[in-house]
Order: sequence, then structure tokens, then C-alpha cells
Amino acid sequence: MDIKAVQGEIQNSDADAIIVNLFEGAAVSGATQAVDTALGGAISDLIASGDFTGKDGQTGVIYPRGVIPARRVILVGLGTQADFSVEAVRRAAATAVKKAGELKAKQAATVLHGAGAGGLDVRVAAQAVSEGSLLASYRYHGQKTSDAPENLPESLGIIAFDAGDVPAVEAGIRDGSAIAAGVMLARDLGNLPPNICTPEYMAQTARTLAESTGLRCEVLEKAQMQALKMGAHLAVAQGSDTPPRFIILEHNAERASELPTLVLIGKGVTFDTGGYSLKPGEGMATMKNDMSGAAAVIGAMGAIAGLDVPLHVVGLAPAADNMINGHAYRPQEVITASNGVTIEIISTDAEGRMLLADALVYAGRYQPDAVVDIATLTGACVVALGAGVSAGVFSTDDTLRDHIQAASAATGEKVWPLPLFPDYEKAIESQTADIKNSGGRTGGVGTSAIFLKHFVDYPVWAHVDMAGMAINVPDIPYVPAQGSSGYGVRLLTALAQQMAAR
Ligand code: BES
Ligand code: MN
Ligand code: ZN
Repeated sequence: MDIKAVQGEIQNSDADAIIVNLFEGAAVSGATQAVDTALGGAISDLIASGDFTGKDGQTGVIYPRGVIPARRVILVGLGTQADFSVEAVRRAAATAVKKAGELKAKQAATVLHGAGAGGLDVRVAAQAVSEGSLLASYRYHGQKTSDAPENLPESLGIIAFDAGDVPAVEAGIRDGSAIAAGVMLARDLGNLPPNICTPEYMAQTARTLAESTGLRCEVLEKAQMQALKMGAHLAVAQGSDTPPRFIILEHNAERASELPTLVLIGKGVTFDTGGYSLKPGEGMATMKNDMSGAAAVIGAMGAIAGLDVPLHVVGLAPAADNMINGHAYRPQEVITASNGVTIEIISTDAEGRMLLADALVYAGRYQPDAVVDIATLTGACVVALGAGVSAGVFSTDDTLRDHIQAASAATGEKVWPLPLFPDYEKAIESQTADIKNSGGRTGGVGTSAIFLKHFVDYPVWAHVDMAGMAINVPDIPYVPAQGSSGYGVRLLTALAQQMAAR
């Protein structure tokens, strides 16, 4: 879908569908009022009849029959003014674009939700409309040899009444498009099957992204990882015929010495069978998505480059399959990570933390001002916070946690703080090595975070467990209810923006 800024009055638009809005329980105002007046009060009638109240998620359709040039008027609810935020704009834009698609409108035009009575900055509103509209238009076609037609608008004009607002609308569209592209890339990677989305496929995706965005990209292969003594990552990878990759993307590499450095790390397990600690069938069924943290980092790096965030940002995506063969690692083995810490394997299914261990050590070479890892790490986090409800966030630094929570509030990608209690250390004490890779049945999300902390030798670090958020996130109109959500891209991008603005 092509989005552009258009100066004009929406009641004069000849689009197949024009989109206007209403706050729940509020009087018709602004552009909606202009359309209502042009239609001789048809919108007021719809409201008076009780058929449309402006509730969040609600739509109404009016057919102007030549009274104005547009073929249809789509009304979308913004919810109450008291609950209003940029998130309401993203949702309203998504709901309206999906409705326009259902009605088979090809050319749509929309008001800038939230910029009038909502009081939002024009650029912020335009970004939110673009993000919501583009993300709602995401489709995954997979490997189907034939597929139903799309039923999506081909173009969306964002109407600015004031000519002076056009540059701000254009800037918002640019930002929203860069962010949406990152999310859609992450969704594609998550949705692809594990026989296609291998570590090398992820590496190739990163290389291609680097070419189109100016990011620097380096991909370490097995021999280079061996030279770096990345024993934890390699232990997981050795059970698969598909070789591992350690993917490095870098934004503003040439300005590293003058800008603060943020390192992002994403778990890239391209399929998690559990290894010899084999998962039962239903537990394994969704494990192609176990690379969603890496996908979020790659997508965020694309968005960060597109937005040209004035920060030195490094994205690390350790990638491997967790499989079984004659070389696969086993419970009771002792593995040495790249910082020399020895790990007794309790469960080969606690593989994500093994990849993250070597990546967290690698992050140290950048002398980072902050490091954030994101991973589909534990079922325990899903038990604690719910499926599709929220990610958990652990941090050694209150300011970084505040930034992550602010990024979460700005994007609607939910995180909830969890504690790094030293008490969890007891659960991963080992008789035979420095630590164990699993702390057992209770406190599984906390013990996984404490495990990771053994590989962090810088003060400012956070860990985001997104196990519950990678797929099947319900009730958000711009997120597919089924399949990969692209969670994390917007959170990490907003975090980089926050840190750059500080
Ligand atoms: N990839 C899984 C975690 C997961 C579970 C993600 C469900 C998404 C949905 C991870 O590698 C894993 O298997 N974790 C184990 C850890 C345990 C063996 C300590 C778990 O959560 O059971
Ligand atoms: Mn696992
Ligand atoms: Zn896993």
C-alpha cells in the first residue's frame, strides 16, 4: 500500500473510500463535521440512531450517492477522549484500512486521526496512521501456489487541511514506513518454515538489509566462532547438519567513538526440538518461531537505519538449530563459554541462554553504554504473564528499565518488570561446573535471567523475555491474530530513539 500526504479538504476527495473518525460520546467536530455538513447531517443521523457511537474498534459506512465525490465514507471509532493515545490512532487507522479493504476500496483517503480534537503533534499522528495502516496490511502468503486476492487498498492519502502541515505529514509517513518495514521483515522471518529460515537464510537477510540501508554487516561462520571460543553457541549448533551463524549488524559504525553505543541481541534458534531433552509434540509445534528475538533485532536495525537514529547501535543475532544427531550435546556435559564460564547442561532444551551467553560476552567488546537482549526464552515467562499479554523485562539498571518502559508505553508493545533476585543463583549452582543451564521447575523465568547475568561484564544490561509475544497475539487490529507478531521491533527502535534523545 502506497501512502502519501495530500493537501485538501477530505469532503472534496474522490477516493473510493474516505475515512473520518469520532471520539466516543463526543460531538462531531473537525474534518468529520465538514463531511457531515457536506452530507446534510448523515453522520449526525447515524450517531443519533445509536448505530455508531465512536467506540474503539467500531466502524460505520455511509454511501454519499454523489452528494460528495467519494464513493463511501468510513467512520471509525477512536474510543473515549480520556483513554486517547497514539495507540488509539494506530488501532483506528488499522481498523479503517481493513474495513476499506473488505469493501474492496482501492483508493482510500483518511483524516489525520488524533491531530484535531486529539491534540497530537501532526508528525506523530501521521507516523501512527502510517504504522497502523501498513501493519494492518501485512499478509504472509507462505509457499501457497495459489492464494486468494488481497482485498486491500492500493493507496492511502493522508489529508492535511493546512498546506503548512504537509512536510510534517510526509516526515511522519517516512518514519512510520521505516518502522513498519522492520516489523514486516521480522514477521516474514518468523513465519517462514524452518527448512527455509535457517541461520544462513537469516544471515543473507541481514546482508541484503545492510545493502539497502547502509548498515555494516558481518557474519561469523563456525570456524570464526571456534576461534572466539563460543563453546555455548557451538554446543547447541553441533546437533544439526545446518551450520550456525553469528550475525552482526552495525549502524553508525564509523561514528562509534563519538556516539553512545547500544547493543541489541536476539535469540535466533531457527528450530527448537529441545535436543536430547526432547520436547513433546505439542510443545515443538510452534518452535520455528524460536528465532523471533533475532528477527526483532534485525527488523529493528533496519528501522533504526531508516530513521537514521543518532546513536551507535550494534545488532547481534546468534543463530542455530537445536536438533539431535550423533554430535548433539547432552545433559551432564560441561561446556565452556567464550568468557571461560563453565556450564553443566541440565537440559538441552535450555538452549537459548547458551546462544545468548556467547553473544552477551561478545557485546562487551563494544564497551557498550547499554545492552538489551530479547528472546523467546522460557515457557515460565508465558506462565507468569500470559500468552499474548506481555513480555517480561529484567534490568541491572533503573534508567535503562525506565527507557524500555517508556518505549513500551510509546509503542504499545507491553513489557512488565521482573526481579533479578540474587536468590535465584542457588537454583543454578552446579556440583561439576560454575553454573547449570537450568534451575529446575520453579522460578524458571528468574533463574534464566540470573544465568544470563553470568555473561554480562558491563553495568547497563536488560533482558526481555518475549516467549509469550512471538506468535498469536490477539485483539490488536494491526497485529495478525495468528502467526508471527513482529513483537520487539517497535520496542527496540523506540528505545534507540529514546536513548538518542536523552
Ligand atoms: N524456546 C523455548 C521457550 C518457549 C516456550 C518459547 C514456549 C515460546 C513458547 C526454550 O528454549 C525452552 O525450551 N525453555 C525451557 C527451559 C527449561 C528447559 C529450563 C522451558 O521454558 O521449558
Ligand atoms: Mn528450548
Ligand atoms: Zn528455545
